[in-house]
Amino acid sequence: MPSKTASLTGWKLFALLAALVLAMSALILALNADPAEAMRSVIRATARSSFVLFLAAFVASSLATLVPNGFTRGLVRERRYIGLSFAFSHLVHLGAIFSYGALNPQFWPSRGGLTNLPGTIGYVVIALLTVTSFHAVSKRLSATAWKRLHTAGMWTIALIFGLSFYKRIPTMSTLYAIPFAILCAAVAVRWVGKWAQASKRTQAQRRNVPQHTFPPALES
Ligand code: HEM
Repeated sequence: MPSKTASLTGWKLFALLAALVLAMSALILALNADPAEAMRSVIRATARSSFVLFLAAFVASSLATLVPNGFTRGLVRERRYIGLSFAFSHLVHLGAIFSYGALNPQFWPSRGGLTNLPGTIGYVVIALLTVTSFHAVSKRLSATAWKRLHTAGMWTIALIFGLSFYKRIPTMSTLYAIPFAILCAAVAVRWVGKWAQASKRTQAQRRNVPQHTFPPALES
């Protein structure tokens, strides 16, 4: 009989993660007496929930190569739904940004166009990755184009997270160095994992080379 956790996959996992993001946001709004401050807290909280979900999708395949076990294999299997949950969490981030703009009329005028540029690029990338996660759209792309888009998109989002945390270290709190360091560690894990995958592929290719292609001296 499948265990409870084993059945928490696919859209069920997405529904659970999306419900957790909504419950967290609702709780913050309910507990804070000042609606504008509450909305600002929702912006921060959803940026953080998005970060956790993004990291899980970002390192999944590398982790499964470096530390193969049931959990890391599960991460790879559920990567699509974790990625979609990240997009959902960031949709709530966007909703909270517009709500905050409505509650605080100084918000948008205080932000120059350049301030919004990385975030806007981020949302375009998230939208592209989301729509191409569905078969009806992804079948229009070649496997190579799909892979290139998703690899470039994930690195773009990682860069935007990095910038968002890094710029807050001197201006808001040195504690922002913690998520920035976590992101750097995730980048290192991804690089080492991809390197290990490439070297495994090379070894497998070498093993598959037919014997007769070797010079006789090497055959013994
Ligand atoms: C135009 C689009 C965006 C706007 C206008 C925007 C706006 C904001 C605002 C107002 C905050 C809260 C500032 C504060 O009180 O400290 C915030 C926090 C944050 N946003 Fe966004 N954002 C956008 C897109 C994005 C994207 C695409 C990402 C990441 C991929 C992102 C990541 C973050 C992070 C990491 C934080 C800091 C959360 C924390 O305090 O821990 N944002 N954003």
